[in-house]
Amino acid sequence: MKRYCNVVLRYKILSTKNLFEEKVMLKDHYRLLICVLLMTVFVGGTAADAHPVQQNATQTIRQLADKNHFYFGAAASPTHFGDSKYVATLSREFNMLTPENEAKFCSLQPEQGQFDFRAFDKLMDFANQNKMVVRGHNLVWHQCVPGWLATGKFSRDEAIKLMHDHIYTVVGRYKGRIPMWDVVNEAIADGGSGLRNSPWKQFIGDDYVEMAFRFAHEADPDALLFYNDYSAEGMNAKSNAVYAMVKDFVARGVPINGVGLQSHFRVGEIDEAGVAQNMKRLGDLGLQVQITEMDDDYPVGSTAAILQQQAGDYRQLLQTCLESSNCTAFVTWGVTDLYSWLRTSNSGFSNPDVKPLLFDDDYQPKPAYDAVRDILARHAGEAPILTDDQVAAMSVAPEPAVVQVQLPPPHKTDLAQLAPDPVPGAAYYAPFPVTIKLDGKTDDWANIPRVTLDQGPTMPANNTTSMTFAVAADAKNIYFLADVKDSKVIYGKHDPLTEWYNEDSVEFYINATGDLTLTAYKPGVVQLGIPAANITNPAKPFVGGSNSGDVPVQVVAVNTDEGYRIEASVPLVTDVWKRVPLTLAKLGFQVHLNGASGDARDTKLIWSTYDTDDQSYMNPSLFGQLIFWRAN
Ligand code: XIL
Repeated sequence: MKRYCNVVLRYKILSTKNLFEEKVMLKDHYRLLICVLLMTVFVGGTAADAHPVQQNATQTIRQLADKNHFYFGAAASPTHFGDSKYVATLSREFNMLTPENEAKFCSLQPEQGQFDFRAFDKLMDFANQNKMVVRGHNLVWHQCVPGWLATGKFSRDEAIKLMHDHIYTVVGRYKGRIPMWDVVNEAIADGGSGLRNSPWKQFIGDDYVEMAFRFAHEADPDALLFYNDYSAEGMNAKSNAVYAMVKDFVARGVPINGVGLQSHFRVGEIDEAGVAQNMKRLGDLGLQVQITEMDDDYPVGSTAAILQQQAGDYRQLLQTCLESSNCTAFVTWGVTDLYSWLRTSNSGFSNPDVKPLLFDDDYQPKPAYDAVRDILARHAGEAPILTDDQVAAMSVAPEPAVVQVQLPPPHKTDLAQLAPDPVPGAAYYAPFPVTIKLDGKTDDWANIPRVTLDQGPTMPANNTTSMTFAVAADAKNIYFLADVKDSKVIYGKHDPLTEWYNEDSVEFYINATGDLTLTAYKPGVVQLGIPAANITNPAKPFVGGSNSGDVPVQVVAVNTDEGYRIEASVPLVTDVWKRVPLTLAKLGFQVHLNGASGDARDTKLIWSTYDTDDQSYMNPSLFGQLIFWRAN
């Protein structure tokens, strides 16, 4: 009977391929029902629930997920198997796992043609012993590309064969044991403008994506095949691009079954209505969706109030998924905050303070844990775990980050400086009044504090790119200086008005509304993207970015020995703001650098450290502060 039920459960996943073919679903339901009855009679419990029936207060996520016939998983890695609490929590709370890194290309094929399945097999054994379903992740990605592939020279046909052989070997080896795969990960560029740069795109061309799906389908025709991406959960330009791509795949018969919504969120920033709408339109194409990598971080000091709001985020996103008929799994990107990739990864996000997951550093359940159990219990028709008041308390927004930051008292290391030292990543003191001429020269910028940008979500490959900025004001204007070190200044390959950020460019952001906690743009907030393309365009400068048309911007761009320099100014009085510099008067302020060494942006450096993920173009609360300082 056990085997029958295993088969039934597996069948349920596979049959959801035909989500909208009622017959299959009905047949499936009957079989499940029989299975439930059999298990109830023989085991004295419910079918998917091999654990003893317990009171709600003590039921685990796994038990409640099983009752919903729903997959609730975590990214897992055998590197933590020596930690007994990790192992116990993973197997007790989750009925699905995703290999965090073990199934990626660089892990499995570190040398050309030489596969190493040891770590992944350890994880497979663990999943098998603990009856957990495995989400395969991932076959083709622009990251975790082994050196031999990244630096190799391959013709289109050779690269196609490499991809084919990798997919056949990996998917083929686990055929029948891994019911779903993320076939292609993160192929679409941020902002949705086509496919991002990747070795696969370079070697093969844009059709590498659909080829990967065809190969995976040939290797295991029963596996569900997903396209997986981030920042495309709700309705936005990137999710529109994902939608357009998969719609075209469905229309042309490219074998695809679903879209993974990674869901790396910031506390308080999830637009559930948008997510529901996106799930629905993908469902209308006959596709499943899954929340594949949920974590919810907060850049500084996660107070009790923040952890409550985080609980609300988890609860609402899970509710959105459970209420969407095509949403078939919810996976968190890790088990405990202790090992979250956001703390440890070298991909530019590392912040040792974040607490993005369901269990804290000591494996104690966080408020989000009960929030998840509550919605699972309610959805399964069981008694709620939280009271309605407790649930309501989870949707109260706590004080935003910027307001909570206590800046140290202003301090000058160099007495010749016209304003105090900047506070790294958080505050810049801009001296006034200072006479600046936009002429491409820096003699008039002497003794104005300089800040070097050296952090960001996409660090330059060879560390040759960096940027130093400075800001000052006179009675009429705010002035910006950006000195960029860049061995090869790239422009002229993209439309400088709409795709300036894919070329060498600097960005200054101002929030002059007086409300530094704003989480969305409104008049008075501008993003000023200024491309190096202005070097050859002195007459009417190119300036792009959110609300950039609201204010007049003057620009001078010149080549320098080390790279290029931008000088720019905006008036203190415009249609959207009226500001007078006064000592300690504040503006929201942010600075970014975009670097390209080839066809598209491959460097993103960010000044205000609240923005770990290039979200400043949408969310002004991630800016730091510009503080005026009278320079006597
Ligand atoms: C991350 C892992 O968590 C890190 O350990 C690793 O250093 C980099 O990759 N999107 C994805 C995941 O699809 O594979 C990434 O995982 C996180 C972002």
